Amino acid sequence: MSKRRPFVAGNWKMNGSRAESAALLDGVKAGVSNASKAEVAVCPPFILIPLAAEKLAGSAVAWGGQNLNVNKSGAFTGEISGPMLKDFGCSYVIVGHSERRSLYGESDATVAEKYGAAQAHGLIPILCVGETLAEREGNQTEAVVARQLDAVLAKHGVASLKNAIIAYEPVWAIGTGKTATPQQAQDVHRFIRERIAKQDKGVADAVRILYGGSMKGSNAGELIGQPDIDGGLIGGASLVADEFLAICRAAD
Ligand code: 13P
Repeated sequence: MSKRRPFVAGNWKMNGSRAESAALLDGVKAGVSNASKAEVAVCPPFILIPLAAEKLAGSAVAWGGQNLNVNKSGAFTGEISGPMLKDFGCSYVIVGHSERRSLYGESDATVAEKYGAAQAHGLIPILCVGETLAEREGNQTEAVVARQLDAVLAKHGVASLKNAIIAYEPVWAIGTGKTATPQQAQDVHRFIRERIAKQDKGVADAVRILYGGSMKGSNAGELIGQPDIDGGLIGGASLVADEFLAICRAAD
């Protein structure tokens, strides 16, 4: 099985002044060349997306949103739609991040709707799945990840994964400095790929599955070296250009 093209995305979450972000975007852009094997993207907060578009236009680095509303436009105070993200040059949008699920009550059904809205508006969804510590300790990891994945597959079909990226982010590893071991991560990535393969082997072989959760320059190589880990979705370490670039190099 040929390894898929690596993908590294930075999820800045709710961080960054305009000046800090400009410097970070310049730093990332300078360190990623068109010759890089890995595809690289950053997902800044909405308000910084125009800055990302201005800084990254014509570079090897793409950009995306962290969330979207399922509607195109209208009376949805405080929300941002897929067409708006597209209008500012976004290629990607994260859907179903665990912080959206846990802090903003997004259900599997909501996440599946957002995934569909992203694709309908020409954005590639980065679909996040992952278990909490209690779920892992209760041996529920596979059941939880399967449920989160199946909600999307049931609504949009397995072929929709040709235009999507999956990110496995164990909640207990996010922002905790506690990384899944390469084997723990690989086991879940393989489980996800095998579950997809039951419906379509070609799609399963091609879809990229990223790992997220305290990934940094020093552990990225070993994680991305696993057969079913195709890159990373990076939080904290994506806020430091050198650290993020070290992960990009590890993915290369
Ligand atoms: P950390 O890299 O800060 O653990 O965050 C991971 C994450 O949630 C990326 O979406």
